[in-house]
Amino acid sequence: MTTLADSPDQIIEIHPFDAPLGAEVIGLDLSKPLSPDDFIRIHRAHLDHHVLVFRDQRITPGQHIAFSKRFGPLQIHVLHQFALSGHPEVLIVSNIVENGQPIGLGDAGHYWHSDLSYKEKPSLGSLLHAQELPAVGGDTLFANMHLAWDALPQHLRDAVEGRRAEHTYLAKYAELQRRSPWRPNLSSEQIAQVKPVVHPIVRTHPETGRKALFVSEHFTTRIVDMPEDESNALLEELFAHSVQPEFIYRHRWAEHDLVFWDNRSLMHLAAGTPDEERRRLYRTTIEGDVPF
Ligand code: SIN
Repeated sequence: MTTLADSPDQIIEIHPFDAPLGAEVIGLDLSKPLSPDDFIRIHRAHLDHHVLVFRDQRITPGQHIAFSKRFGPLQIHVLHQFALSGHPEVLIVSNIVENGQPIGLGDAGHYWHSDLSYKEKPSLGSLLHAQELPAVGGDTLFANMHLAWDALPQHLRDAVEGRRAEHTYLAKYAELQRRSPWRPNLSSEQIAQVKPVVHPIVRTHPETGRKALFVSEHFTTRIVDMPEDESNALLEELFAHSVQPEFIYRHRWAEHDLVFWDNRSLMHLAAGTPDEERRRLYRTTIEGDVPF
């Protein structure tokens, strides 16, 4: 545990989890502006632990946005249908249907992914704030892609180093639409916003210099300049390798949790919520760098 005294009446504690990633931040009320010193501490802890959990944060969407913006410009999700009214930077993640209409993206995180990896500049990080939680289910899993790279067998390292892969928002869209009647059809403008992009399979974290695997079952479709069957087989091996239990932290949500994760270091997965349970969270995403 690190204890960082700011002043006699303000103490932040960072409690690392007994897990391959993650820490809880104690002593910070995110409804108040973050001091420059606290920003430095939170930024450092985020780089060190990849997931930060802030418990019991009674914050408004405006305060959620203001905290997120301290780390960079925010991104607007292509599914603008599910933006919070008056706050286009906030995506509603929810399985709730009202008057026959979904109020949010119900199947966000159904497959392992790193947020917005299908953009030229994928997300640096995401901040998810619990609004309404199910009595059962609804956990979020995080996989440490630095550890996945560190533990990658040599023959797979040799196979992927220096190679690039395509990421496509539409990769599983039709499949998800078949599973969920609530996923909207995309307009031509929306499709134009999510053209496929190519990123290195092994990326270097721009702030820590650590290497991480950067492919996911949701968005990565093929390895560039590799025959299709070989590419499919190699991607399957990488996906299976990345989500072994020794790389994973499972977050069990509590009321008003705010969870801030690093998409350059992690993938995540929504473990699922029973249909009869209500789940609603608000998500912001911070724009990151072009991966290298
Ligand atoms: C997401 O993929 O950002 C949503 C994760 C979740 O709902 O647990």
